[in-house]
Amino acid sequence: MKFFAVALPGLEDLVQAEIGEWFPDLPLEAVHGGVNVTAAIGRGLAMNQVLKTPTRILVRVAEFRTRDFPTLYKTIKKIDWREYIDPSCELEVHVSTRLSRLKIKSRIEETCQDAWVDYRNEIRATAVRGKKVGLYVRFVEDVCTLSLDTSGERLHKRGSRSFVGEAPLRETIAAALIQMVERKHAVADGRGVELVDPMVGSGTFLLEAAFRDEVIQGREFAFDHFAKADVKVPAAPSRPFRFESFVGFEADKKTLSAAEQNLKGLDGVILRQEDFFKSEPLPPSEKQRWVFCNPPYGERIKVKEPLADLYVRLFAAVEEKCRPDVACFLLPSKAVKGKFRLPIGWKVVEKRPFLNGGIPVTAFVFQIQRA
Ligand SMILES: C[S@@+](CC[C@H](N)C(=O)[O-])C[C@H]1O[C@@H](n2cnc3c(N)ncnc32)[C@H](O)[C@@H]1O
Repeated sequence: MKFFAVALPGLEDLVQAEIGEWFPDLPLEAVHGGVNVTAAIGRGLAMNQVLKTPTRILVRVAEFRTRDFPTLYKTIKKIDWREYIDPSCELEVHVSTRLSRLKIKSRIEETCQDAWVDYRNEIRATAVRGKKVGLYVRFVEDVCTLSLDTSGERLHKRGSRSFVGEAPLRETIAAALIQMVERKHAVADGRGVELVDPMVGSGTFLLEAAFRDEVIQGREFAFDHFAKADVKVPAAPSRPFRFESFVGFEADKKTLSAAEQNLKGLDGVILRQEDFFKSEPLPPSEKQRWVFCNPPYGERIKVKEPLADLYVRLFAAVEEKCRPDVACFLLPSKAVKGKFRLPIGWKVVEKRPFLNGGIPVTAFVFQIQRA
């Protein structure tokens, strides 16, 4: 079957690399907004439970040309949906249309719903209220693609983090940045890794590192309503790095207690309720130290000084207090246009722009060389 792993535009290569690690034999193709994957149904559905970077996983059902509603109706009604889903489901239709004759979204949705209800009546299936599966209907230049959503709620909801702070980072973004550093910018020298977040919020970076290879089980997936949902979860790939300890600083008391709840029971965690700029330097470590930080952008969390000044201070403080091997900062693009004063030995090795909740951001990765 043809699956499509939806990625945040700008992170497609990271989603592709993650799929390649878990499913090395599957044919993959990264395109704008996601990755095409060809897989047997059980393995395709398992992507929901092991991958940490995609937003959702769709399965392609049909692709056809049409410029009229009757063809759309007939094509949908003719599909044997029992191949995919339990026909007692209700469909939640999501429409997008570009450069196509059919452009009125509400009418496209109505036509899909009519066809679905008539199909269901014809095979004498009864609807069960609340049992929902998403149908993604996409028109581009009069080619209609029908895809079923196998995920349900977006995949950044892992089912484990229940406490959030003021401006939480999506888990899928945190995971993508950790994987990017791990794959491209860190040097495997046999040492374990200590991950430090100087502005930890509710602990997303720490959680994503700690549960990197965990199979997600504590939530529902749309594929629970799929017909042949014999999900085949693969074994975790071997990794060049081990996350051994986790350190977080957080100025706000309430937010820190959210992080404490989220990370409860995990070994090797130190959380400090402190202003990072006023904190004592971390003791030297035998481990590699990787810093990840998503500081305030001056939007949801107000900042008194110019943002660029805050970030320059932050880099200097991270160098002084953490002495990291690698550091990754997610910063609002508008605040980092010009040149930055960097601590000695810091070199930019990646700048990756994308949208974080609609805000243009750039992920900067620094490698640090010491004499
Ligand atoms: C954008 S949020 C980080 C969100 C976090 N990545 C998450 O997913 O929950 C920035 C966090 O930095 C904290 N913060 C701001 N200034 C700080 C400082 N000087 N020291 C420590 N924490 C600080 C804020 O309270 C806020 O929780």
